[in-house]
This record gives sequence, C-alpha cells and structure tokens, in this order.
Amino acid sequence: AAMPDLFSQDPAQALAALRAEVLADRGPLAVQATQAVFGEGPIGAALLFVGEQPGDEEDIAGRPFVGPAGRMFNRALEEAGVPREEAYVTNAVKHFKFTPTGRRRLHQTPDAGDITHYRPFLRREVEIVAPRLVVSLGATALRALVGKATAISKVRGEVIRTEDGQPLFPTVHPSYLLRLPDAESKAREYARFVADLKAAWREVQ
Ligand code: URA
Repeated sequence: AAMPDLFSQDPAQALAALRAEVLADRGPLAVQATQAVFGEGPIGAALLFVGEQPGDEEDIAGRPFVGPAGRMFNRALEEAGVPREEAYVTNAVKHFKFTPTGRRRLHQTPDAGDITHYRPFLRREVEIVAPRLVVSLGATALRALVGKATAISKVRGEVIRTEDGQPLFPTVHPSYLLRLPDAESKAREYARFVADLKAAWREVQ
C-alpha cells in the first residue's frame, strides 16, 4: 500500500481534521457562541448547500439547519424531490452571531470581516466534499463563495463560478421566506425556491 501523506490523505480524514480545526477556532464570534457548527452530509454529495450561519437552535444542537429555517429548507427539499441525506449542508460562518436581548438571542447578520475569517474553512470544506454543484442560500453565502458582494437577483438560478472555479447555483435563504409578511408572497416565493432546488437537482442528474 502507498504511504499515506498529506496529499493522498483520504477525504474522510481531511474532513475530520478540518472539522476539528473549526471546532477549535477562537475567532471573534467564538466567544459568545455555544460551539462551532460544522457541515454535515456525505463526501462526494452531488449538491453542497451553503447557508449563512448557525441560528439559535443550531448553536445549541451543534448541527446545521435544525431550527425554523432548517425545517422550511427540509420541506422545500422534499417537495423538490432532493433527498436531504444525499446533500451536504453547511454554513459560510461557523458560529452564531447575535445580540443578547433579555432571554432571547437576536440574530445578527455577519459582516465582511466575519465572512473573511471563515472563508478559508469554507473553501477547504467545499474542496474536500467535491460536490458537482454548490448551492448558495442567501447573500452571505453568495458573497463568501464568489469573494465579493453580488446581488442575488442578478444571478439567481444560473450556474456561475465560485472564486475557486466550482459551479455555483445561487438562490435565496429559506429564512427569507419565513420573514415575508403576507401569505400570498410567501406562497409565491416558496414555490420559486422549490423550483430553484429542482433546477439545481436537475443540473446534477
Ligand atoms: N440559517 C442558516 O443559514 N444556517 C443554519 O444552519 C440555520 C439557519
């Protein structure tokens, strides 16, 4: 058998090592958070979804997309016919950023500095998982993956490229759907999100 070295390290080992690094990260957002939240899913998944950052429930569970946005996301995946267990799911920012307000913890949008801090982790995660298509959910993920602020409306539903040259399919974040004020726009935007997920899935078949 060949000698194991850094270059032939198997992807499972590389991903485990990266996960350990992320969990040990002591960057500015690590102070407040319960723990870092790393990605989940199979190596070689056809689709790799990138969200913004863990929310309140994810921070406590230590797992991505298990809160309200995650439930919305699961429902949309199911409706689009995308098996969640065949997808890899992660976030651009690995710690929950929030303002403590009484007993609730109010989500804060990560800034450019936060995105930059976690970007090397995200790039390596994508490289190791090596999906056929990366799907960015929302503005933070899109910015982290292309390396500059980009309007979702200009690139939504198209296959563009990450800064490392991987195919990237941008769509909205499921929490955007939760924030819409009226039932009519909610239903319309949800249907559009499901259509995006279907289109992304079709790209990898
Ligand atoms: N929103 C995200 O972007 N990621 C999560 O893991 C949960 C909510």
